[in-house]
Amino acid sequence: MDMIIRPRRLRGSENLRKMVRETRMDKASLIYPLFVMDGVNCKEEIPSMPGQYRYSVDQLSFALEELQKAGVTNIMLFGIPAVKDEVGSQAYAADGIVQRALKEAKKHFPEMYFITDVCMCEYTSHGHCGVLCGHEVENDQTLKLLSQTALSHVEAGADMVAPSDMMDGRVLAIRNTLDAQGFKETPIMSYAVKYASAFYGPFRDAAGSTPAFGDRKSYQMDFHNSREGVKEALLDVDEGADIIMVKPAMSYLDMVTKVRDVVNVPVATYSVSGEYAMVKAAAANGWVDEERIMCEMAVAAYRAGSQLYLTYYAKELARCMDEGKIG
Ligand code: PBG
Repeated sequence: MDMIIRPRRLRGSENLRKMVRETRMDKASLIYPLFVMDGVNCKEEIPSMPGQYRYSVDQLSFALEELQKAGVTNIMLFGIPAVKDEVGSQAYAADGIVQRALKEAKKHFPEMYFITDVCMCEYTSHGHCGVLCGHEVENDQTLKLLSQTALSHVEAGADMVAPSDMMDGRVLAIRNTLDAQGFKETPIMSYAVKYASAFYGPFRDAAGSTPAFGDRKSYQMDFHNSREGVKEALLDVDEGADIIMVKPAMSYLDMVTKVRDVVNVPVATYSVSGEYAMVKAAAANGWVDEERIMCEMAVAAYRAGSQLYLTYYAKELARCMDEGKIG
């Protein structure tokens, strides 16, 4: 056979395959989403997310210790308050669940990095991501509450804030508020390219944040659109976002590549609850190899252009990296 170029030459051994790998990843770029709830002595498994728990503040240290041991040092905190109201007041209460969790976590784990999800939906009785005017989510009123929430998180010790509500102008509003209070160096990771997605289903069970009426389509993006995602990303960079996130991950990797090409800030990808739940369910039935699927999903996000990866599988991925299976 007269053939000079043989792609298989570079696939002949494990050493060689690893040498020519195009995608490298490490534990430092993983972020683990963690749910904290009111109460004491609680570690409740989330039914639709096997292996994921809601922790009361007193139980948080056990979870953080395990993560730290696994080499996962970056955490995204979500709060589940005991009481919800029309205006989500527990989101910005100085003694709210996230604020208390932060104080505890920073005291015992000062070397870990805590990012907080800034949104109203876990805290409002109606489950929408902002304050209502009739049945509409009122954008500009919500900005004040989001800014207050972000500020209260930073005052309680948050290292970074991550607005996920999809209100227009929230990155700038939060930036201005933080700057005015002397927190000029606290970065903002914007959930900029966030689609209205059925993939969030299990999360809403976990946080009890399913909207009481309607859906989130008037603020989260229509999944038919990609240029609109680019517009959101560029806007948020202009408003001062330090990191741009694309969410969900698996079905949206085209957006990761697109956004990565047009912004010059780090791009994060969030592999959301529904992606985790699907893999868990299929694996429980013996239909897929959980570890290999999890690794492929993660590597694909990095290959698409992601620099940071949020995943409920962070600990298991870290182990696979240690074992040289990926990375
Ligand atoms: C809050 C928020 C959601 C998620 C992250 N932040 C839920 C939503 O927008 O409905 C989803 C995370 C996941 O599904 O894992 N707005």
